[in-house]
Amino acid sequence: MDRNLAMEVVRVTEMAAIASARLMGRGNKDESDQAAVDAMRRAFDALNIDGTVVIGEGERDEAPMLYIGERVGARNAGAPEVDIALDPLEGTNLCAYGRPGSISVVAMSSHGGLLNAPDTYMEKLAVGPRAKGAIDLTKSPTENLRSIAERMKLYVEDLTVMILDRERHADLIKEVRAAGARVRLIEDGDVAGAIATCFEGSGVDVLMGIGGAPEGVIAAAAIRATGGDMQGRLVPRNQGEIERAKKMGISDIHKIYTAEELARGEVMFAATGVTSGDFLKGVRFFGGGCETHSVVMRSKTGTVRFIQSIHKFDKKPGYAP
Ligand code: FBP
Repeated sequence: MDRNLAMEVVRVTEMAAIASARLMGRGNKDESDQAAVDAMRRAFDALNIDGTVVIGEGERDEAPMLYIGERVGARNAGAPEVDIALDPLEGTNLCAYGRPGSISVVAMSSHGGLLNAPDTYMEKLAVGPRAKGAIDLTKSPTENLRSIAERMKLYVEDLTVMILDRERHADLIKEVRAAGARVRLIEDGDVAGAIATCFEGSGVDVLMGIGGAPEGVIAAAAIRATGGDMQGRLVPRNQGEIERAKKMGISDIHKIYTAEELARGEVMFAATGVTSGDFLKGVRFFGGGCETHSVVMRSKTGTVRFIQSIHKFDKKPGYAP
């Protein structure tokens, strides 16, 4: 994949972020999600790739745009063939209620690089580069926290563990508290939570718990690029989801995936903040334009670029309401 592509992909997440941020706080998650989807779909047309969505808005019959299997990109001569995992608005409720941490994300790999994860749950354990190699989903949360703390050379009491605030995590939260670690409960947005572990300034050391499986693959792409570590195990909710996973080529439903197995080979990742979060500021509007904050990363070089962009609505009519 051409390295310049990484800098192009960010335009796609910027456009989706601006469109959804404009509808922030209106209490309508479908509306802000749709705005992000429309904008992202349009932005892909300007990108010279021959892309196939492998993780998107859903199956073709349930999602008219950015559905799994949809071909996107300008597809001009010489366009690179890429697989794409995307979430135009990750944390739809966060945006709809003006809460922190919603982002727009796109991950890309060469063909076959991204696990075609079914729309089920995934148990996730993610850490930043300083704890790489210290995680093991076959072990208990307490054992993992001890091993992570030892690797990071700090007390378990000083670790901050991010967990989705869900009933299903009651036992996990109890155990993490009993182990002595600090807990940050989030309402939504475990992609941003997983990525935050890779940025020291975020104050998040570990992401634990069960969230969406597609989100797990997207997070893994970012973690690969930053040199962090992640493991994930599918948690199907019913027999239907098990069947669906099998149809998508997953024979061992209990397999523990490493970040490298979730997002193989060379991957690129771009995210733009919609509402301000732990490592990205949200979209800020001003007279005649707006400012966005994005991060772009490539696994090949490990380069992480933070991009602050000023967009002028008179010059870019596509960005105006
Ligand atoms: P949406 O952007 O689709 O609303 O997802 C938000 C999210 O919190 C993800 O970050 C997370 O992986 C998933 O939902 C958790 O699912 P659930 O809300 O069913 O617990």
